Amino acid sequence: MRLQDKVAIITGAASGIGRASALLFAKEGAKVVVADVNEKGREVVQQIVSNGGEAIFVKTDVSRGHDVKRMIDKTVEAFGKIDILFNNAGIFEGGSVDQTTEENWDMIISINLKSVYICSKFAMPHLLKSNGAIVNTASVYGLEGGPGAAAYCASKSGVVGLTRAMAVDCAPKVRVNCICPGPIDTPMLRTLSAEDIKSMESQIPLKRIGKPEEVANVALFLASDEASYVTGAAYTVDAGDTAT
Ligand SMILES: NC(=O)c1ccc[n+]([C@@H]2O[C@H](COP(=O)([O-])OP(=O)(O)OC[C@H]3O[C@@H](n4cnc5c(N)ncnc54)[C@H](O)[C@@H]3O)[C@@H](O)[C@H]2O)c1
Repeated sequence: MRLQDKVAIITGAASGIGRASALLFAKEGAKVVVADVNEKGREVVQQIVSNGGEAIFVKTDVSRGHDVKRMIDKTVEAFGKIDILFNNAGIFEGGSVDQTTEENWDMIISINLKSVYICSKFAMPHLLKSNGAIVNTASVYGLEGGPGAAAYCASKSGVVGLTRAMAVDCAPKVRVNCICPGPIDTPMLRTLSAEDIKSMESQIPLKRIGKPEEVANVALFLASDEASYVTGAAYTVDAGDTAT
């Protein structure tokens, strides 16, 4: 097992990529903290426990410092330490700069970017003790521009930049990497029209959208000791999308 006896916090673990990662990390021996604003995280915990694993749900809004501090305290109370922080929670709201309201801008930046700063800040004393690892979910939209997604692109570029800055600051004790997924089949992607998804698929070299489990596999690698010489990296999981 690749995460035997490790304690992992996964944000946004009630759904999509976070859910797939919670199930996979638990299967690999980790004790998992399912952190999400959505109570459906409890079902993920039930599934892990019924598979013989260990997990707790902590209702958390990752954009609020008070909630995040509670998430860290509950983790240490339940499992005694933190080895892995997977900052994965995020939202997508479309719009070019002229279409984006100030409220929307603040909300997207808070949930997608500020959350990575707050969760990492409060987890850091524990990660420094355990020589732990942080994995952040950015996006291919953190590496290139996309149409009608100004605040989202800005937030995800910020996640890539923050990943690199934290990797430098936290070395040699804590490794920090991010994942840049292309289109992945989760409820977030399914807010787009079937026509838009089809058009995306036709432009991707591997000609299909990805599965949440295919991103979880890369998160597992980066969180595990197998990635012991990897830090400050932005891993694309995009079927060649950004290679074109
Ligand atoms: N699906 C894609 O195509 C795609 C592509 C690139 C990047 N991403 C990124 O992957 C991550 C996971 O997205 P997903 O596709 O699995 O979507 P999803 O909507 O299935 O899951 C996102 C989860 O984050 C949670 N969440 C939202 N706001 C939160 C908050 N304030 N506090 C705590 N939890 C919150 C939601 O409740 C949900 O459970 C996001 O950061 C997203 O930006 C997704």
